[in-house]
Amino acid sequence: MMGCITDFFTYETTKSVVVKSWTIGIINRVVQLLIITYFIGWVFLHEKAYQVWDSAIESSVMTKVKGFGVYNNRVMDVADYVIPTQGASVFCIITKLITTENQVQGFCPESEIKYACGNDSDCKALTNKPGGNGVMTGRCVSFNSSLNTCEITGWCPAEIDYVKIQPMMEVENFTIFIKNSIRFPLFNFTKGNFLPTITSDYIKKCNFHPVNDTYCPIFRVGDVIRFAHQNFTTLAHKGGVIGIKIGWQCDLDKSEDNCNPSYSFTRLDAVSEKTSVSPGYNFRYAKYYKMDNGTEYRTLLKAYAIRFDVLVNGNAGKFNMIPTIINMVAAFTSVGVGTVLCDIILLNFLKGAEQYKAKKFEEVSDTQIMSSISQSNGLHRSSCDQLSVKQDEKWSNESWGFSYGQ
Ligand SMILES: *[C@@H]1O[C@H](CO)[C@@H](O)[C@H](O)[C@H]1NC(C)=O
Repeated sequence: MMGCITDFFTYETTKSVVVKSWTIGIINRVVQLLIITYFIGWVFLHEKAYQVWDSAIESSVMTKVKGFGVYNNRVMDVADYVIPTQGASVFCIITKLITTENQVQGFCPESEIKYACGNDSDCKALTNKPGGNGVMTGRCVSFNSSLNTCEITGWCPAEIDYVKIQPMMEVENFTIFIKNSIRFPLFNFTKGNFLPTITSDYIKKCNFHPVNDTYCPIFRVGDVIRFAHQNFTTLAHKGGVIGIKIGWQCDLDKSEDNCNPSYSFTRLDAVSEKTSVSPGYNFRYAKYYKMDNGTEYRTLLKAYAIRFDVLVNGNAGKFNMIPTIINMVAAFTSVGVGTVLCDIILLNFLKGAEQYKAKKFEEVSDTQIMSSISQSNGLHRSSCDQLSVKQDEKWSNESWGFSYGQ
């Protein structure tokens, strides 16, 4: 029992074989140099492994669109063409409107050619099917002098949305103003996209430009669409979703002035760009009124719109002791990886590999151990010792724990 305890309180250290060979010596130092360069150059300086990162960015976005357009002989202002009106990070600018005025609840014929019918039985087949402008009654009625269509009950007259109309082209010259505040909660660091250098005179005149006006918070719609590699006319006709991305990459070890937003633009609904099934983006809404006698009527609007999503992302890093220590330990440990490579070369490819092998792995047989034990210790020691000697030898045979003259 006592023997086992004294054996536990021991210290084992690796035996080193110093190989004085130019070839392996140079390889060893070059590999070590490469590993050290990698850690200092890439891990520490480029990837900033000495910093702790916060990517849980908190952000608020406020937007405001400006500009006037002419549509259907009406001058349109912000309240007419921006939906929703709150100035949130997601908003639509309407480019095309199909209006159906004075709709009341009642019975009327369908407006589309696909609901054409010869008699009532054609329409009976369509009842309880979704689609169309209302609930089918199962009757075939006259739409105009040359066409009969199925009758519906709902908001009448039914909308005719296949008319060709021109979008409001002035949208191209509208401007979007974006106010963005961010905070990195880990460092309690706040900043906004109005840089201290921006004056109110500048903000009145500027338009964002990726080279000349990188920090101007006012964006021309036409520019945004061009930066997203889209065609304004196509987008105005069909509608679509454009992303305005604001990226914040901040190194808080440096001055606060280096933590600036970077804007990028992309089309988010790439799927509707390629498909012909549902191209673009549109939605319907209605304005409700009441007649003097209390009957409700409405104006139905089908809007084609360009939707803008302002997306904010970013992360900030700052020096911290814990990642520094962890990465330094990893760096020092990795320097030892060179040993593996040198061992392989030394024991397999170098001249005199057999002699090196013999020096590195001292072979000890069972009978040698037994005889040395009985010689030095006599026979009174427990079997515990013999076991531990065997285990130690086995361990050193398997390990790579050698170094070259370090
Ligand atoms: C946009 O503005 C430019 C210059 O201010 C003008 O030449 C152009 O006609 C405008 N575009 C539209 C569609 O109104």
